[in-house]
Amino acid sequence: MKLLYSPASPFVRKVLVFIKELGLEDKVELAKVTTTVVNQSAELAASNPVAKIPALVLDNGKGLYDSRVITAYLDSLVASPSFYPAEGDARWDVLAMEALADGLMDAAVNARYERGLRPAEKQWDDWADGQIKKVHGALKALDGAAASFGDRIDAGIVGAACACGYLDFRYPDIGWRENYPALGAWYAKFSERKSMQETQPPS
Ligand code: BEZ
Repeated sequence: MKLLYSPASPFVRKVLVFIKELGLEDKVELAKVTTTVVNQSAELAASNPVAKIPALVLDNGKGLYDSRVITAYLDSLVASPSFYPAEGDARWDVLAMEALADGLMDAAVNARYERGLRPAEKQWDDWADGQIKKVHGALKALDGAAASFGDRIDAGIVGAACACGYLDFRYPDIGWRENYPALGAWYAKFSERKSMQETQPPS
């Protein structure tokens, strides 16, 4: 399989952490792709028609996307561990937390694009501020749940960790640890994992 990726993307990081935690490193080749909305990679678009990373190209040539589909697929390849509970409340809780973490990352990436890529005269402050408000909404929810995270690892947990890591990477001044201390305390420990250390965004 081939993963089309960019090392700066938190969605890619989630997939990379899955690959490492599930022991699939020797099954997935990594292919770096440079793409933006205004300059879309043709190679990426051939595997994912909406030209978004990550995309996983299977051995039969089929493209899988988005990150949540890829992580579920990778999880299905190994009997153990499993990062998606099979059924019941536990399953829906994990899926909802993964969606929450993805929502945080979406909002943070959107605001970064608005501030970092859009020409200054076209930037819309209220829109970017609204995205940051979403980031704080997600952080508050994660902080409220963090006391129950313990040492567990699942798709929601990996998503939350990659979301926190992206804030450290692109929003070093947002000060999320001060406002969301339970989440900060949990992340301090989780981010020591080898899979997190080896997937840190570029400096
Ligand atoms: C970033 O540079 O922040 C970024 C790159 C690719 C996808 C998402 C975010």
